[in-house]
Amino acid sequence: MAAPSTTNDRGSWNSKLGFILAAAGSAVGLGNIWGFPTQVASNGGGAFLLIYLLCSFLIGFPVMTAELTMGRKTGKNPFGAFKAIRPDSKFYPLIGLWGVICGVMILSFYTVVAGWAFSYVFAELFFFLEMPAASAWFADIGNGVLSAVLATLFMVATVGIITGGVSGGIERATKTLMPTLIGILIILIGYILFQPGAYEGIRTYLYPDFTSITPTLIFDAMGQAFFSLSLGMGALITYGSYLNKKENIPQAAAFVTLADVGIAFLAGFLIIPAMYMAQNAGVEIFNEAGQLLEEDTLVFQVLPELFHTIGMPVGLIFGVTFFFLLSIAALTSTISLLEVPVAFAIDEFGWRRKVAARVVGVGILAVSILVAFNQSLIGTFVTIFNGVGLPLGGFLICYFIAYVWKTDNALDEMELGYVNIRQSLFSKIWPLFIKIVCPLAILYVLIQKLVESFG
Ligand code: TRP
Repeated sequence: MAAPSTTNDRGSWNSKLGFILAAAGSAVGLGNIWGFPTQVASNGGGAFLLIYLLCSFLIGFPVMTAELTMGRKTGKNPFGAFKAIRPDSKFYPLIGLWGVICGVMILSFYTVVAGWAFSYVFAELFFFLEMPAASAWFADIGNGVLSAVLATLFMVATVGIITGGVSGGIERATKTLMPTLIGILIILIGYILFQPGAYEGIRTYLYPDFTSITPTLIFDAMGQAFFSLSLGMGALITYGSYLNKKENIPQAAAFVTLADVGIAFLAGFLIIPAMYMAQNAGVEIFNEAGQLLEEDTLVFQVLPELFHTIGMPVGLIFGVTFFFLLSIAALTSTISLLEVPVAFAIDEFGWRRKVAARVVGVGILAVSILVAFNQSLIGTFVTIFNGVGLPLGGFLICYFIAYVWKTDNALDEMELGYVNIRQSLFSKIWPLFIKIVCPLAILYVLIQKLVESFG
C-alpha cells in the first residue's frame, strides 16, 4: 500500500462562489424536489413545513458549521478528520467511518431514483410524440434492467465529474448546473401558481394543522433536514477540507442552508399546488381516509398526469424540463456523495483521484444494481441510513466537537476567516447549540421514534 497521500490529488476550491454553489448543489437534490414535497403531502402540509424549518435552522445550520470547520481544520475526509484531531483514539475515527458507510449506502439507492428522474424525460417526450409504447417503457420504473442501466449512466457521469478534480470538475459543473436548475424551477412555479386549483394546494402547504404533529412527523422532518442539507455523514467535512482559510465559515454555512431550504420551499410551491390541480383534473391522489395514495410515486405519477392534462405544447415543455431539472439536481448531489469515499481512498490509501473515483464508483454501482432489481430495499435503506444514520452521525459529530475537540478550538479555526468572531453573537450561541441543544434534540427525537415504533 502506498503512503497516505498529501499530494495535489486532494485539490481545493477555486473561488468562494464556486464552493458555495458546490455545497448548495450537494444539498439541493432529490431530497428537495422529490422528498420534501412528498413528505409535506403525506404528513399533513404546513405542520411538516414548520417542523422542517425549525430542524433546518436550529439543528442543521449549527451542525453544518461544525462539519465545515472540522473539515477545514484537518484538511481530511471524515475518517481522517477524526483521526487528525484525536490521533491516539481508535474509537473516534469510527464515527467518520460510519459517515463514509452511510454515504456509500445512500448513494447506492440515490443513483437508482436519479435514474428514474432521467427516464421520465424520455417518458414525457415520447408521450407527447404520441408513441405510447415507448413512453410506457420509460415510465416503468419498476423495470430492473431499465433502472440498472440508468443508475449506471448516473454513476458514469458522477465518476467523470469527480475525476476532473475539485475545482476543474465539481466546481465547474455545479457553477452551470445550479443556476440552470433555479431558473427552470422559477419558470415552472410562475406557470403553476396561476392555474385553477393551485390555491387549495398553497393553503394546505402553508397552513399548519398542529394536531398532526406526532413523533413520527418530527422524526421524518429531522431526517429530511439532515438528508436535504447533506449533513451527518461528513460530506461537508470533506467539502470543508477543500476550503480556503480566509473563508468565513458561518457565513458560508448560512448561505448554503438558506439556498437548500429556499429551494425545498420553492419546490413545495410547485408540487403541492400541482397535486391539487391534478386532483381537480380528475386524478386520484388521496384515499377516503385522506392519505396519499402513492406516497413514493407522487412525483412520478401525479406530475406526469398533470403535464398530460395540460397538453401540447406547454405540457411537453414542462414535463421534459421538470424531469431534466430533477436529474441535474440529483447529479450535483451524487457528486458530493461519491466525493466522500473517494477522498477517503485518496487520503487514507494514497490512491490517485482517478483510480479512487473509478474503483469506488464501480463498487457502489454493484450495490446500486442490486437495489435496481430489488427496489423494496430503497425504503429499508432510507429508514436505516437517512432516518437513523444521519441524525446519529450528527449527534456524534456534535458530541465530538463539544466534548473532545472543544468548541473553543473550533471557534479558533473559524476565526481565521471571520476576524471579529469573538465579539459576535454567533460565538456565544453556537457553542451552546453544539454542546446542548443539538445533541439533546437529536437524541430526544430518536428515542421518541424508538418508543413509538417498539413501545
Ligand atoms: N442533499 C441531497 C438531497 O437533498 C442528497 C445528498 C447529497 C446527501 N449528499 C449527501 C444526503 C450527503 C446525505 C449526506 O437530495
